[in-house]
Amino acid sequence: MRYSSLLTLAATLSTASAGYKGFNYGANFMNGQAKVQADFEYEFNAAKQLPGTNGEFTSARLYTMIQHGTTNNIIEAVQAAINTKTSLLLGLWASAGDANFNNEITALQAAASQYGQAFADLVAGISVGSEDLYRITPTGIENNAGVGAQPATIANYIRKTRDAIANTALAGKPVGHVDTWTAWVNGSNNAVVSACDFLGMDAYPYFQTTMANSIANANQTFYNAYDATVAASQGKPVWVTETGWPVSGRTANQAVPGTDNARIYWQDVTCSLIAGGINLWYYTLQDAQYGTPSPQFGIKPAGDLMQVQPAFNLQC
Ligand SMILES: *[C@@H]1O[C@H](CO)[C@@H](O)[C@H](O)[C@H]1NC(C)=O
Ligand SMILES: *[C@@H]1O[C@H](CO)[C@@H](O)[C@H](O)[C@H]1NC(C)=O
Repeated sequence: MRYSSLLTLAATLSTASAGYKGFNYGANFMNGQAKVQADFEYEFNAAKQLPGTNGEFTSARLYTMIQHGTTNNIIEAVQAAINTKTSLLLGLWASAGDANFNNEITALQAAASQYGQAFADLVAGISVGSEDLYRITPTGIENNAGVGAQPATIANYIRKTRDAIANTALAGKPVGHVDTWTAWVNGSNNAVVSACDFLGMDAYPYFQTTMANSIANANQTFYNAYDATVAASQGKPVWVTETGWPVSGRTANQAVPGTDNARIYWQDVTCSLIAGGINLWYYTLQDAQYGTPSPQFGIKPAGDLMQVQPAFNLQC
């Protein structure tokens, strides 16, 4: 290949792969134990060192700004992210009432003031809530998904968050919301779309049990959800905040968990999102610490994250 076309190719590749790539990180382990700074650092480092990924999984999506088990202390993932140069999609829990949301804001502002620019430089965006709108739907209620929040509440919290960061190091960072694609395409939630700078979309063909949801259809099912969300987004960016295929668990309609199918899903969906430069936080690196989830989505099985091999090949 000529040198000039190599340059063009390199430019194309670097633009195409510019999206954030990472995983979702809970504030506690399955047994309820809080993750502390060392736990977050260990997880962030393990993500960076995943075989087959060129060290590109350097972003972490969080669900809360509050250190687990405290009222409003800054989640220790922030210091861990600074130490490991991990970018952050911050999350504020928005389904536990106003007093709790104020604690989220307190922790967010404290992080901005304590860590300043070193922190802000890592922040991809701030999500106000996670699947709150899904949880108030008939499907969410039927699945015992837990307490949710009304669209007016989320829109109001988004405005509060924007005000809260206005004079901090986080000023101007994108503020949005994460929900299931089904919530985004529901016109009753338009006020939330309007309030957002970005839409975080969660989509799992595995759980779409009223559709033909075999692995053979999974790529199409995923992109149908993505395209429908883009169509409802009022032109705002759509980020993929959760998706994945379980490595084990029960068959859900036509969706069969397993490492072979998870590999197919990764190859089709994850690799195409990466190639398209679409921001992605996959679900998930490991969900089997101190417990056995079912279905299990972790690409690393239970055990020492630095030692256990991924359950399937992660090369694109
Ligand atoms: C659509 O959204 C509204 C408001 O969030 C919710 O109450 C309703 O249950 C949703 N409808 C469906 C079919 O999910
Ligand atoms: C997955 O779907 C997208 C969108 O329709 C398409 O561009 C892509 O080629 C599909 N990939 C596979 C492996 O089918």
